[in-house]
Amino acid sequence: MFTKAKLRIQDPTIVGVELGGSKITAHVYRIQDDGNLKHMASACVQSKGLNRHTIARIEWLEESILNVLHTVEQQSKITIKDAYIVVPSGILNSKMIDNSLDLGGRVVTDESLRKLHDISSFINQKKDEEVLHVLPLRYSLDDLDNITDPRKMIGRKLNALIHVITASKSFLNNVRQIFSHADVRIKGIIANPYATGLALLDEESMQLGSTIIDMGAESTTISCFLDGVLMFFKQFPTGSHQITKHIARKLNLSVEAAERAKIQYGFVSADAALLAVNQPVVDGNLQRHISPIIMSDIEELTISMFDVLNQLDPKVWDRIIVTGGGCQMNGLSEFWSRGFRKSVRAEKNYQLSSPLHDLTLAASFGAIKYGLTDYYNLNTRHIIQPFLKRTIWQKIQHWFNEDF
Ligand SMILES: Nc1ncnc2c1ncn2[C@@H]1O[C@H](COP(=O)(O)OP(=O)(O)OP(=O)(O)O)[C@@H](O)[C@H]1O
Ligand SMILES: [Mg+2]
Repeated sequence: MFTKAKLRIQDPTIVGVELGGSKITAHVYRIQDDGNLKHMASACVQSKGLNRHTIARIEWLEESILNVLHTVEQQSKITIKDAYIVVPSGILNSKMIDNSLDLGGRVVTDESLRKLHDISSFINQKKDEEVLHVLPLRYSLDDLDNITDPRKMIGRKLNALIHVITASKSFLNNVRQIFSHADVRIKGIIANPYATGLALLDEESMQLGSTIIDMGAESTTISCFLDGVLMFFKQFPTGSHQITKHIARKLNLSVEAAERAKIQYGFVSADAALLAVNQPVVDGNLQRHISPIIMSDIEELTISMFDVLNQLDPKVWDRIIVTGGGCQMNGLSEFWSRGFRKSVRAEKNYQLSSPLHDLTLAASFGAIKYGLTDYYNLNTRHIIQPFLKRTIWQKIQHWFNEDF
């Protein structure tokens, strides 16, 4: 249980930093003596040094990270000592592991679950991968299936289907190096799709089934939640910046001009794909030229996403939520809504707000929420939502809703 004594022992500052393809964001929140969260600072700087989610030039990445940390330190007047980091989908891998434990007729305890969740023997230590999240999807005990929490039950053999998310060790080590130069300890590393879900979904939406489509600069990621857990994610190489580059190339514009034109004139609709393109490009008809280029990328992406989602439990389709800068494209939500025959909503992070509150910031807010569960020893890396005591989860929701 959380007590005031515990609140005083730990540092009540929670810092979340998201490393994105186009921007690096940071937020600082503080848990006050009465248990409520207070927003202290937020900053967003251009992301330099990352190229399609690999580190292209470490000095530039370091400069961007130092810049964002410095800005939030100045705003909040707090010296940042530690932070939760959200890492991009491009450095992640995902695997399903079926693990089992002989119980010999004994009762399932926390210790049995710890043993069952120990997947180290499935990870090739020689490979460049580090485990970020161990997410048990469901358990079976002898011939009983689909158990969400097997503790206190007795049986002979306990099985778990576990979703394991790993990240590139070399990427993480280089990021660690940057933060250690800044004298900031990394308290936790969170996969972007997981952090986005934490920020955008309430417990019920995670339980019943939801899919988030996050269209960023370098890529689009779908993350699917069911039974309270991130059960699947996949990254597609089409991001909004790729669309900009296609516009620049096809219309012979600079990347800056293409980006401006995309945001000003770009719209997505099935009819847009049919617009004529064989006319000279002048400002007035730029839209006729831009929309077919956008549509060819969006259609290809939509078909790839559809093929993947179609293989999953239909319940994950029940709610489709779009986020990320690319999803601000006019008409995109409506296009997907018609294409997927589902209601698709553009979701702002309804659980937190700050001066920088907008569609593109979900993942960094997820880091704050993750930090909060860590603060109360509800560490989501090993034992996650199904085991969060409902009252505590509700209290966390209550803080976010009440305070802003
Ligand atoms: N109104 C708009 N219409 C179309 N695209 C937009 C709009 N506003 C922003 N974008 C695009 O959103 C992208 C940035 O999105 P976002 O901030 O989610 O990226 P990121 O999180 O930094 O990148 P990634 O998720 O790839 O790591 C840019 O490529 C930008 O062109
Ligand atoms: Mg992003």
